[in-house]
Amino acid sequence: MTATAGAQLSHVYPRGSRVNERGHLELGGCDAVELAGRFGTPLYVVVEDDLRSRAREVADALHARHANGGVLFASKAFPCTAVLRALAEEGLGCDVASGGELALALAAGMDPAGICMHGNAKSERELREALDARVGHIVLDSLHELRLLAGLAEQLGHAQEVLLRVTPDVAGDTHAKISTGQADSKFGFSLPEAPAAIEAVRSTPSLSLAGLHVHIGSQLLELAPFAAAVRAVASLGRFDVYNFGGGLGVAYTADQRPPSFQSWVQTITGAVHQQLGEGVRLLIEPGRALVANSTVTLYTVQTVKRNVSTWVAVDGGMSDNLRPMMYGARYEAALADRPLATGGERCHVAGKHCESGDVLVRDALLDDPAPGDVLVTPTTGAYGYAMANNYNGVPRPPVVFVRDGQARAVVRRETYADLMARDV
Ligand code: LLP
Repeated sequence: MTATAGAQLSHVYPRGSRVNERGHLELGGCDAVELAGRFGTPLYVVVEDDLRSRAREVADALHARHANGGVLFASKAFPCTAVLRALAEEGLGCDVASGGELALALAAGMDPAGICMHGNAKSERELREALDARVGHIVLDSLHELRLLAGLAEQLGHAQEVLLRVTPDVAGDTHAKISTGQADSKFGFSLPEAPAAIEAVRSTPSLSLAGLHVHIGSQLLELAPFAAAVRAVASLGRFDVYNFGGGLGVAYTADQRPPSFQSWVQTITGAVHQQLGEGVRLLIEPGRALVANSTVTLYTVQTVKRNVSTWVAVDGGMSDNLRPMMYGARYEAALADRPLATGGERCHVAGKHCESGDVLVRDALLDDPAPGDVLVTPTTGAYGYAMANNYNGVPRPPVVFVRDGQARAVVRRETYADLMARDV
């Protein structure tokens, strides 16, 4: 065993994680090796206190600085009823980007008035579902949608509150695939187009224009673009409601130091107070920053191969975490029964899927990895479960909540029968 003196778990692990007396990773009071044995692997483990404490932290930060504010969880980050239920219990609303996410939010007990419906290509059915559910806001993304929604709302005799999505032509420093604030975007209305769209909604009796929506991108580690976005849309006039989206980045690796919720909120509220005043209703929609660090994935090492590199292959991969393949995202990896071992062998942690790109972590330092070891990748709570798939017929992993030494499955493992459940 390699020396562990002085080493400690990095801040990318869920709050309250520690190394227990056996030297094993402990999550929410539960031994990670035991969790893997009890529930099998791959396994998403959510530390419930981490999730709930982050929800309270961001809500407190907003309410401390702005009297009329609301936090909506971007459910796309972890679209799981148990997660939504926990966040609803903490007083959050949510944003949904499809009829399916709306169904999950309603099933989780989210108050419809606290739901914001998104989507750049909402179907008539989805718009009808949002109207029927009486969601708080529907975010208008195009003129076609405006006309469609106006007709549906008129049929129902329901004056739906809407926000108009504006792209403020502000680009944050993030992966191009998750940058959304630029003018040349599939989302919303550009600044030059927005005034006519605002007029069009105002002259539609069945719709009530509450305000504007802006989301500039995701995994942003700098705050200046958030203030720039507020300044850009302030030029469009003053509205009752502003929803400034999500986007706050998180630490995936120990070297990353993202801004706190407090500084993110301070940046947005500061710009809002300066540009728009203190009286507006201010909504924010964090997804990743609420859930990413709450969760780890546990795998079992299947093989270790040494050629040019050392390849540690696990029983999951791009079916449970697509982010390294989609965005070149970096993660940490450790062995659950010796997580503090340092100075191990440089390895690539590969998945089980039939392509070379299926590599979860490059250049991880692992201490003598061997088949049967439980391997952990932290920071998998955001867009992991969300983008899981059945490539190679691999059943999707269960989700387990841990708290005070107790573990409970909230989503079961998929079965082979599930893979055939839709066959007709
Ligand atoms: N609001 C809107 C309208 C959004 O489109 C998004 C994310 C959010 C809020 C939440 O953003 P967050 O706080 O999570 O950054 N699959 C990608 C991320 C796509 C984000 C899409 N929109 C990934 O794994 O990095």
